[in-house]
Amino acid sequence: MLTLTGIDAFYGNVQVLRGMALEARRGEILCLLGRNGAGKTTTLKTIMGLVRARSGSVILDGDALTALPAHEIAERGIGYVPQGRRLFAEMTVAENLEIGLMTRGRGRDVRERMLELFPVLRDRLKQVSGTLSGGEQQMLAMARALCLEPGVLLLDEPTEGLQPSMIALIRDVVTELRGGDTAIILVEQRVDAVLSIADRVLFIENGAPRETVDASVLRADPALVQRYVGIG
Ligand SMILES: Nc1ncnc2c1ncn2[C@@H]1O[C@H](COP(=O)(O)OP(=O)(O)OP(=O)(O)O)[C@@H](O)[C@H]1O
Ligand SMILES: [Mg+2]
Repeated sequence: MLTLTGIDAFYGNVQVLRGMALEARRGEILCLLGRNGAGKTTTLKTIMGLVRARSGSVILDGDALTALPAHEIAERGIGYVPQGRRLFAEMTVAENLEIGLMTRGRGRDVRERMLELFPVLRDRLKQVSGTLSGGEQQMLAMARALCLEPGVLLLDEPTEGLQPSMIALIRDVVTELRGGDTAIILVEQRVDAVLSIADRVLFIENGAPRETVDASVLRADPALVQRYVGIG
């Protein structure tokens, strides 16, 4: 289980997270919902150690991650698919996967499973990843994160800007992971897309956690979402 408590984070002197708190459990999908600029991406970056919390804690299965360098946080098994799917653009598909595998010493069996999950990558192993289509890049970013066999998977708007067939594929993969050993934190703007696969939804407002609500409650009363974020 991954727990954040009382996280304050700043860019320069500007405070962006104010007492951010959440709990992600294995086998579950926790969705983060909030307006543009609410602090969703910053929350994920803080978990990864890419933004340093000024106070508060990030705890994974009883161990504090808060002071660890970013690479060690990945080694603990936190897979991260950043918003805008940042790959090593000059490297090939195969090399990007290799970096994911090396992070936690995973081997050919994991690589093979990724290529089964995303067959399109198998045909493009030697292609420089910067030349992949947007959807292919997203698949590679997900495959690279899954090469860690992560205990926690952070997905920052994985379907942003993709066509429906691609969205469906990513959705299938996320749904398949659900119920396994991975805790998934999913940031999505599209409420309709989130509600059918989420277990719980955390509403974030102005850098602070507002409320965590069971997705089943929101499915039964979609108007609630309006009240929390005024979107959907
Ligand atoms: N590197 C940075 N330097 C300064 N301010 C930043 C930086 N990154 C983000 N911010 C600011 O921090 C706030 C939170 O940004 P963040 O990216 O976490 O929001 P978000 O909820 O992910 O938004 P979106 O839905 O648009 O992706 C915003 O006001 C943003 O302008
Ligand atoms: Mg964001």
